[in-house]
Amino acid sequence: MLRLAIQKSGRLSEDSLTLIRECGISFVSSSYKLKTEATNFPLEILFLRDDDIPGYVQDGVADLGIVGQNVLVEAGGSALEVEALGFSKCRLSLAVPRAAAYQGLADLQNLNIATSYPKLLGSYLAERGVQAQLHTISGSVEIAPSIGLADAICDIVSSGSTLLGNGLREVETVFRSEAVLIAQPNLSPLQAELLEQLRFRMQAVRRAKR
Ligand code: PRP
Ligand code: ZN
Ligand code: MG
Repeated sequence: MLRLAIQKSGRLSEDSLTLIRECGISFVSSSYKLKTEATNFPLEILFLRDDDIPGYVQDGVADLGIVGQNVLVEAGGSALEVEALGFSKCRLSLAVPRAAAYQGLADLQNLNIATSYPKLLGSYLAERGVQAQLHTISGSVEIAPSIGLADAICDIVSSGSTLLGNGLREVETVFRSEAVLIAQPNLSPLQAELLEQLRFRMQAVRRAKR
């Protein structure tokens, strides 16, 4: 039996469920049930917050997970990326208030930057020799400049409408991301065999869409 953790509600949820169904795996899902079992494949599906998924997979509470690469890399840890899935493409970007002057990274020197991705942003800035104060907040990061909490932000951008709606302008791309399948490092031989079957089906689904 394999346990697969997917996002309960958010940008990855719908496409994750669709991918599993397109792999020919049947299951019943309702928005209130946080766990369901497939009827024609030895798979249990857990519905969790995306940020928690790498930790659950690392600890073996779940064997597999579907998360954004951004969440996986930020979490660090020992969950392994086994397959890029090609959906939920987005980027982690720096943004400043629309009217702010910005000519390059040096303009961020000594500013306060709000983000949910302190590790990814921290190493990006360190590699480029920029010193800034990072303020970690777990959501609604885009509000920070307008309430005086930060001079700039670094968060996930997909369509760009959240930035636009909050008077922000994207100035640098820190990291490009898409959904990935991850696995715990200590699968049993039987589980590893089931994972291979699953990957084979996922690859076939992607090929069929090209
Ligand atoms: C990101 C980000 C914005 C939104 C941007 O959230 O925090 O809220 O997506 O998308 P847009 O450019 O299309 O407006 P995410 O989906 O990662 O959810 P989470 O932070 O709640 O996990
Ligand atoms: Zn999240
Ligand atoms: Mg968000």
